[in-house]
Amino acid sequence: MRKHSAGERNGRAVIMAVASGKGGVGKTNISMNLAICLAAANQRVVLIDADLGLGNLDIMMNLNSRYNLWHVMTGRKSLQQITQIGPSGVEVICGGSGLEDMANLTPFQHNRLIHEFNCLQDRSDVILIDTGAGISQNVIGFCMAADQVLVVATPEPAAMTDAYAVIKVLAARQYPGRINLLVNMAASIEEGKKICRQIAQVASRFLAVPIYEAGILCRDQCLQAAVCLQQPVLTAYPNCLFSKGLKAISNRLINTAPAPTAGDGFFRKVVNWFF
Ligand SMILES: Nc1ncnc2c1ncn2[C@@H]1O[C@H](COP(=O)(O)OP(=O)(O)O)[C@@H](O)[C@H]1O
Ligand SMILES: [Mg+2]
Repeated sequence: MRKHSAGERNGRAVIMAVASGKGGVGKTNISMNLAICLAAANQRVVLIDADLGLGNLDIMMNLNSRYNLWHVMTGRKSLQQITQIGPSGVEVICGGSGLEDMANLTPFQHNRLIHEFNCLQDRSDVILIDTGAGISQNVIGFCMAADQVLVVATPEPAAMTDAYAVIKVLAARQYPGRINLLVNMAASIEEGKKICRQIAQVASRFLAVPIYEAGILCRDQCLQAAVCLQQPVLTAYPNCLFSKGLKAISNRLINTAPAPTAGDGFFRKVVNWFF
C-alpha cells in the first residue's frame, strides 16, 4: 500500500495475507471487497485465492476461472494468461490445486514461477492473499512470508480462540510484520470493539505481540444478499453498513501502512516453503 498519486510508483508491492483460523468468518468476502476498496483508492491490486482445495473466490466474483496456478506451473499458461480482471480493475489469480503441486516442480519450473511472481510484485502496489481455514503449514507459510497479516475474528468464542491461535503461531515464529485484527459479524460497533480489545490485550499480555486494531464490521444482511447475487457487496450495495465500514478500514490500512519489510522476495519464501 502506498500513499501516492498516479505516476509516482516505485518499489515492490505490499503483501497482506488474510487469515482467521476458523472458516466461515468472512475472510473471502473481506479480501475481495478490500481489494476493490484499495483499487478504488488508486492502488494496483492483485488478489490471490490461496485457499487450497476450497477456494471459491471465482464463484463469489462470478469469474470464469478455467485456468489456475497449476496451468502456470505445468507450463501451459503464463501468469498473465490466468489473471482475470475483476471489479475496479482488481487482478484475480486462482490458486486451484496448483500451489499444492509446488513440491513436484523441476528446478527450471521452480525458478520460472518465482520469476513470474516477482514480475507481478513489481507491477502492483498491493497483493492480497485469501488463505484457507486452519493453521496448517501452508496458511502460516503465506502469513510468515507476507509483510502484514489481517486476522479476521468474529464474536463467536470459537472464532475468537482460533484468531488468537493464528496470532500465537505467528508470535512463536517471531513474525516481524504487522498483525492487524478485524472483527466481523459484530452485533454493534461497541461489541466488536470490545472483542477486538480483548484479543489484543491477551496477545499483548501473554505473547508480547502488539496488535493493530484495524476495525469492526457489523453483521449485515446486504452481504448475504450480495453473495447470493454472486457480486461483491461493495458493488451491489455500496452504501450498506458493511461496505461503509470496509471503506473506512481500507483507508486506515493505507494511511498507516508500514513500509514493506526488506529482504528476500515473498514468492521465493512461499515457493521454498513447499519444498
Ligand atoms: N458481516 C457479515 N454479515 C452477514 N453475513 C456475513 C458477514 N460476513 C460473512 N457473512 C456470511 O458468512 C459467509 C461466509 O463468508 P466467507 O467470506 O466465505 O467466509 P470464509 O472465507 O472465512 O470462509 C458469507 O457467505 C456470508 O453469508
Ligand atoms: Mg474463504
